[in-house]
Amino acid sequence: MTTPIPSPPSLPFLGHVTHIDKEVPLRTYVLLSQQYGEIYQMNQFSTQRVVISSYELVNECSDDKRFYKGIKGSTLEQVRNGAGDGLFTAREDEENWGIAHRLLMPAFGTAAIKGMFDDMMDIASQLISKWERFGPTAVINPADDFTGLTFDTIALCAMTHRLNSFYRETNHPFVQAMADFLIESGHRANRPSLVTSVLGYQTKYEKDIKIMSDLVDEIIAERRAHPIEKNDLLNKMLLGKDPKTGKKLPEKNIRYNLLTFLIAGHETTSSTLTFTIYHIISNPEATRKLREEVDEALGDRPIQLGDLNKFPYLNACLRESMRLSPPAPMRYVNAISDTIIGGGKYAVKKDQTVIVNVATSMRDPQIWGEDADEFKPERMLDGKFEALPPNAWQPFGFGMRACIGRALSWQEMTIIIALIFQHFYLVVDDPSYELQLKQTLTIKPKDYHIRAIPRKGGS
Ligand code: HEM
Repeated sequence: MTTPIPSPPSLPFLGHVTHIDKEVPLRTYVLLSQQYGEIYQMNQFSTQRVVISSYELVNECSDDKRFYKGIKGSTLEQVRNGAGDGLFTAREDEENWGIAHRLLMPAFGTAAIKGMFDDMMDIASQLISKWERFGPTAVINPADDFTGLTFDTIALCAMTHRLNSFYRETNHPFVQAMADFLIESGHRANRPSLVTSVLGYQTKYEKDIKIMSDLVDEIIAERRAHPIEKNDLLNKMLLGKDPKTGKKLPEKNIRYNLLTFLIAGHETTSSTLTFTIYHIISNPEATRKLREEVDEALGDRPIQLGDLNKFPYLNACLRESMRLSPPAPMRYVNAISDTIIGGGKYAVKKDQTVIVNVATSMRDPQIWGEDADEFKPERMLDGKFEALPPNAWQPFGFGMRACIGRALSWQEMTIIIALIFQHFYLVVDDPSYELQLKQTLTIKPKDYHIRAIPRKGGS
């Protein structure tokens, strides 16, 4: 006998649509988990979704043999309008996912990422120069500058293309088009398609997709016209063959993957950086320890590739920030066949969508203790991170569909945080600021501003 999965009261036809916080849907999912516990069901029009929140259930559903990545009915299904069968939005059964995955995995491996160090430094130095020029009184929106940083970095590392965000008065047109495209994709996933066409958002949506596609098509055409020797991701896709089938990636899929890297590669990393800065600045002890670590490792000299393993405390801050504030807090999986989860308790039907809420599971007191809501980098130090149970820390997804860009983003984040703490004292602009969230495809701190006081001239 299984236990019925609880569900909040709902409206006919609409289901729970009206329950969901329009600005920050995550807020609703977290509140409902406090009210209903480790599992509950949400209905949206005719679609049923089960939401899981506890460590035990997240661990159980992190199993490629029982669950596959869910695209249908999620925002990702809409993101396919721009990113097609690129790695992030591909369905399990699509051949190009396998080809791209096998072709690109080595290009995202640790050795290849080390080769990106100079390009990462190039962009990171531009952010440091900008903040130095601004001086101690300027109010900085770190989320904006980190977006410029991560966007330029992924474009330079993946396709040797300069977007020059730090030399522009306004955002690159691609950035705005992409932001609008992602927001509208999110809305589309939560409203009937009839409403979408009646509201007339289609023209703007298509225009945004064209702006994004045109840029990547230009980059591909430029590379074909003027090939370069560099072993970047674009060359890998243009020239490489799948080691298993010997097939090359179709031109259209290369475009989708470049777009995917620009989308998946920048917002998540920029959100993580903003949250990490927020958590560190809010904790004077963490600020002090991090500054000491950076000073000891670098002093005044420029950071080098060989320094990257000298920052255990910085690593712990990133890990702890991603635990408390995962930028991609919910992922969708579907059951491969009828199954029962929760130690024989809950029946889940074949193809049923399960929303894996890691924002709640990574605060499960069973794993993290009664102080689970507190920022304590120490819980990630001295072998404690390595000793965690499987899937307790899961901000990069799971299994075969886990994040391919994890090592890339980690190196990029380590470099910029080390440089920032080497060069500046950071302070929050408004000391009464309390964390608020903004949600698009990712979660970010909202209206968060800091000042960066150069350390040169005394400490
Ligand atoms: C997949 C998070 C950085 C590219 C994912 C997934 C998560 C994630 C949670 C799984 C999504 C799902 O199961 O639906 C993050 C975070 C990042 C980050 C938190 C930064 C801190 C990057 C970067 C790239 C990237 C820099 C660069 C290209 C991808 C791709 C996938 C993916 C292509 C799909 C992989 C596949 O399904 O084969 N990421 N990501 N990510 N990520 Fe990241």
